[in-house]
Amino acid sequence: MKKKNARIEKMRLSPIRTMMERAKELERQGRPIVHLELGEPNFRTPAPIVEATVRALRDGFTHYGPDEGVDELREVIARKFYAKKGLQVDPYENIIITTGASEAIFDTVVGLTGPGHSVLIPEPAFGNYYNCCLCAGSQPVNVPLRLNDKSRLDFAALEAALDSNTAFIILNNPHNPTGGMFPASEIEKLANFVLENDLIVIADEIYEDIFYGSEPPLSIASLPGMQERTIVIGGFSKSYAMTGWRVGYAVVPTPLFASVQKVHQYAVTCVSTFSQVGIANSIERCDTEVQAIRRELKKRRQYLIEDLNKVEGVSYITPEGAFYLFINIGRFGLSAMEFSERLLEEKGLATVPGSAFGPSGEGYIRISYATSLQEIEKGISILRDFIAGLY
Ligand SMILES: Cc1ncc(COP(=O)(O)O)c(C=O)c1O
Repeated sequence: MKKKNARIEKMRLSPIRTMMERAKELERQGRPIVHLELGEPNFRTPAPIVEATVRALRDGFTHYGPDEGVDELREVIARKFYAKKGLQVDPYENIIITTGASEAIFDTVVGLTGPGHSVLIPEPAFGNYYNCCLCAGSQPVNVPLRLNDKSRLDFAALEAALDSNTAFIILNNPHNPTGGMFPASEIEKLANFVLENDLIVIADEIYEDIFYGSEPPLSIASLPGMQERTIVIGGFSKSYAMTGWRVGYAVVPTPLFASVQKVHQYAVTCVSTFSQVGIANSIERCDTEVQAIRRELKKRRQYLIEDLNKVEGVSYITPEGAFYLFINIGRFGLSAMEFSERLLEEKGLATVPGSAFGPSGEGYIRISYATSLQEIEKGISILRDFIAGLY
């Protein structure tokens, strides 16, 4: 080969996967590892979904389906969208079923952004946003969140990051990796900023069902003038413990739809048909399961916080949504990567260095509490032990 693709050369393999693979390698060598690195609920997929999908397989839904998704699932998503956000969408003109929310992010960023576009990314952030921009040839622009203030948006930094090419902003709410949830007042302020600067929002709402206060997160799409300039990314991986199913979706305003659709068509054609039929036939009967998952996560969060409060020298962002805790380890004189690597190699605890999510994540590690209470307890005890050795 003469020359590699310069855009792809700039992309980085996900450090989360790298951490996970190193942990697996150590396990293969016989080392016991405690896993707090994975953003994956350890619950079983609700039984009605499994059963409906087995039925769909038996009923012969094993062929190609429509590229943009089976009608029934697009209709279910449109109904859920209306119930949750009060927004009417046309299942056939606005909804694309994708291979997880990851593919929805890829199709949207690659389909809509390109050379000459700057894309604001409040950061630290899920690494796909930055890397999909590199793939698209657009310019990702990291805009630090205020990590010392509940990981809120920094409007002065957003203003300062604007240039004549700024066309998009990617908003993830509730937030990975900080566990923050932007309050309604902040979403309203952001909507004004978007309208004033004629931007388009890519709103990643994959954690919309996982919040710990009394109010669900406000979708920016539901504010006046915002639906037509917001692409909403969603999926089933987190709320329904379906990470392995690889089913998600994008809700796209009609004038932008074809651009996202083209990337989807040429990348994957369509998502597995039986999964879509199974989900469509069962998901509306699974609200109690989602609530049970949220209740259990809330319990784990509380337990984790109480346990972590006993560890000397660390502070953290109190999680309001998703299932991550972002821990400040800045005072120990190690980079986030060194801290995470040593924790894994010396003590067998897998975490993710905050720097994996962007420069502002330096000085932090992310742990996930989507695992069992037993693993959480073991993990925090290892962390306490490791930190005691650093003094
Ligand atoms: C913010 C965010 N968006 C999207 C995804 C991807 O979800 P999926 O597994 O449905 O592709 C994740 C997974 O960790 C995530 O944290």
